Amino acid sequence: MATDNAPAAPACPAGQGAARKLRQWLLVACAAVAGLGAAAEAWAQADVPSLFTNRGTVGNTRHNLTQRQSGGGGPEGTFMDRTRNDYNEVCVYCHTPHGSNRTTAAPLWNRTMAPTAYQTYDLLGSPSITQPISPPGAASLTCLSCHDGQTAVDSIINMPGAGRYNPAQETAQNNAFLDSWTNPRGPATTSHGRIGQECSICHAPSGGAIGATDFSAFVIGTDLRNDHPVGIRFPADAGAGSDFKDPPRKEARLAYFDTNGNARADAGEIRLYNSGEGYEVECASCHDPHGVPSAGPGSVFLPTFLRVSNAGSAVCQSCHTK
Ligand code: HEC
Ligand code: HEC
Ligand code: HEC
Ligand code: HEC
Ligand code: HEC
Repeated sequence: MATDNAPAAPACPAGQGAARKLRQWLLVACAAVAGLGAAAEAWAQADVPSLFTNRGTVGNTRHNLTQRQSGGGGPEGTFMDRTRNDYNEVCVYCHTPHGSNRTTAAPLWNRTMAPTAYQTYDLLGSPSITQPISPPGAASLTCLSCHDGQTAVDSIINMPGAGRYNPAQETAQNNAFLDSWTNPRGPATTSHGRIGQECSICHAPSGGAIGATDFSAFVIGTDLRNDHPVGIRFPADAGAGSDFKDPPRKEARLAYFDTNGNARADAGEIRLYNSGEGYEVECASCHDPHGVPSAGPGSVFLPTFLRVSNAGSAVCQSCHTK
């Protein structure tokens, strides 16, 4: 078992070994499902709607990676405990009060941020792009630390409980450290799943066979040429007479469309991030990873964690005059 603050073990490619073990286990699980006969066949054909209520807290959304509690949503224990550490705390997959990541300007960030090369939108060569595009900034790298499929969703620096802190995790996933965690309700795992890779062994179009939702659309990957540009600078001359609306509030590191005029960047307001190159569009410009109530406190969150409902393309029209 890895000890706390252990030096980084030699980089272990999270993929092959773990994926093979998981596949072997899956064959057994699928054989069991097949054994259920006709009932299982009907089950196999239907995709599975989310069991989360998407109300009130990030704990009721797909960004809760702890085990499903009775009556609530959440990954199903029998399957999921073989795939990721269940830290039994919702926030800890992303934040920690102490020992957070010093390499990324993101709030008390607890995740491994492995240096990664992305194919950015400029490589597409679209002739209508007029603004400079730089590599994704911190407010995109946070999302990509899971959604690019390069790092395990449970790869964090400071695990719950005293003395479970490994600063080497800041920039490199260390499976020996992650393996030292014991799942509170199910078996411990050595398979630390990544979106679009180990997780997609089940969460694929064929996943209905074992009752898993297809998450293919959530796999952003490292090729960003087919995504709305991020790291793209907002035009400095936005406003009347231009193709862009001018955000009414501009602070040193953040500009935002202050729709309620309270001079605070609220969750439900589209924003732009300045990490030193001017205000730029990043993933969190349009999305709030905690969820935004659609019609005030207590209401269901807007779909796909959007800051603004995209009915009538309102997300797009926050910035674009079209
Ligand atoms: C061995 C199969 C299997 C693997 C691998 C797997 N899951 Fe699941 N997962 C399931 C099943 C079955 C459910 C329950 C049905 C559902 O909600 O999709 C589930 C549910 C979930 C849910 C709740 C979905 C909802 O809206 O109700 C999330 C989130 C989730 N899994 C994330 C992951 C992540 C992240 C990984 C990789 C670390 C992963 N899963 C790997 C089988 C699997
Ligand atoms: C899936 C990852 C994820 C989870 C889980 C998560 N957060 Fe966050 N959180 C983020 C990201 C990403 C940001 C930065 C958003 C940005 O770039 O503006 C953030 C920002 C914040 C901020 C500062 C900015 C703001 O929006 O107020 C607070 C406070 C915060 N989170 C608290 C929490 C708490 C408390 C929990 C658990 C109940 C939690 N978060 C769970 C990803 C997460
Ligand atoms: C801790 C890992 C993690 C981080 C960090 C993270 N996500 Fe996710 N996200 C997930 C998982 C797991 C799912 C469930 C689907 C899956 O497994 O691909 C998900 C689902 C989503 C969905 C689909 C929600 C739905 O119900 O339809 C969106 C949209 C999303 N994430 C956006 C973001 C954005 C934007 C950020 C950054 C601000 C972010 N995520 C950060 C792990 C993460
Ligand atoms: C300019 C606004 C904008 C930016 C920037 C943006 N998104 Fe989205 N994203 C959206 C909208 C709008 C949707 C909903 C699309 C739909 O309903 O099909 C969405 C959907 C998603 C989904 C759900 C899958 C899907 O296709 O519906 C994920 C996951 C996601 N975004 C992640 C990200 C990540 C990660 C980044 C940064 C690399 C990012 N987004 C940047 C606007 C944006
Ligand atoms: C936060 C501000 C912002 C939001 C919100 C936003 N965009 Fe953009 N968008 C930009 C910027 C900045 C550019 C770069 C314009 C340029 O280079 O001339 C851009 C470029 C584009 C382009 C041009 C791509 C090309 O190859 O020329 C399209 C198309 C586009 N956005 C569509 C959308 C759609 C659709 C939505 C809503 C889902 C959206 N945008 C939301 C800021 C935004």
